[in-house]
Amino acid sequence: MSDAESTLITGIGELVSNDGEPNDGKPGSFAAMTDAALVIAGGKVAWTGPASRAPAADNVVDAAGRAVLPGFADSHAHLVFAGERSAEFAARMAGRPYRAGGILGTVEATRAASDAALRANLRRLAAEMLRQGTTTFECKSGYGLTVPDEARGLALAAEVTPEVTYLGAHVVPPEFAADPAGYVDLVCGPMLDACAPSARWVDVFCEDGAFGADEAAAVLAAGQAAGLHARVHANQLGPGPGVRVAAEAGAASADHCTFLTDDDVDALVSTPVVATLLPGVEFSCRQPFPRARRLLDAGAVVALATDCNPGSSFTSSMPFCIALAVREMGMTTEEAVWAATAGGARALRRTDIGHLGVGARADLILLDAPSHTYLAYRPAVPQIAAVWQAGSLVAGAVP
Ligand code: NIG
Ligand code: FE
Repeated sequence: MSDAESTLITGIGELVSNDGEPNDGKPGSFAAMTDAALVIAGGKVAWTGPASRAPAADNVVDAAGRAVLPGFADSHAHLVFAGERSAEFAARMAGRPYRAGGILGTVEATRAASDAALRANLRRLAAEMLRQGTTTFECKSGYGLTVPDEARGLALAAEVTPEVTYLGAHVVPPEFAADPAGYVDLVCGPMLDACAPSARWVDVFCEDGAFGADEAAAVLAAGQAAGLHARVHANQLGPGPGVRVAAEAGAASADHCTFLTDDDVDALVSTPVVATLLPGVEFSCRQPFPRARRLLDAGAVVALATDCNPGSSFTSSMPFCIALAVREMGMTTEEAVWAATAGGARALRRTDIGHLGVGARADLILLDAPSHTYLAYRPAVPQIAAVWQAGSLVAGAVP
């Protein structure tokens, strides 16, 4: 099928559009239609509606009663790395806690790796994501922590996604252990100069053992002055200033949000900062899950993402995160699917993805199941039958 041809997907048992009309009428809220059809033309959604009223198209796909959803928008991942840390995972399962220091093992392996090895690992993980329905993903640097290693991580990430994040402020590398302020100066100066051209976002790990509030604010301000937009690793390992720093910086998203005070929740509700929850981390670090219900009931915008990385969450599966969010975090199936699609899009400040309203990018998933509920109802079962990205079939197959 060429881009000039149109495709009608009909016989859709449930079309999750997230365009907010059929259900509660709020623009962009979860919405689903039964017995539906959708037309793709020019890489975009050209029409949606009842299957009985579907217009003609060049190609026809019969969904045979299965569900169609927007592709997942995974707004938080660390895919540029070498090595693995399964022993650390096993030790955690034997009772040891997760600590930020494990990151340095991956830094050592990443610095020693060739471009080809990093690229191969990155592309393998990106392909893994696509097969599981992720049509947009964010990718951070943060395992190089020298000027050339961070710049190379970002250049590699930019080969596979436009959502590239400069995370020079992941941890202080060993060579700066005695001079953390000097490292922050490097991150805000020469490293930023080398990295900003490849990045859209700047991030900082604001946590005990990583960077404090003033350091984090300085990193975000420097990134913003270089034209980047802010996002923050916040309140992962304990209560702390991360969410406040994110709100004060006008960040798009505060990610993790595992340990929140009432003031943090108020900050997330009263600003446009998205609360991005990463339940793969709590699963893999055996920590208490973030209290999604508290955030949703207070009115915060919640996104779900994988945080795919070799330390705290080595999953690339948004369906797994949806299942955890529903089973362990009190989210409804609708809320979890919305958070993994439209929520991720909000966390990336994207309006063209995360929904299937007319004009949206035709990034969509055909589920091998009749409704979105099956993503949580049948955990760990491969159910992504086909994936389209900008209107092209990129994974799976259609009848
Ligand atoms: O999001 N929190 C900081 N960074 C990653 C962990 C990275 C690692 O352990 O290698 C995270 O959990
Ligand atoms: Fe992370």
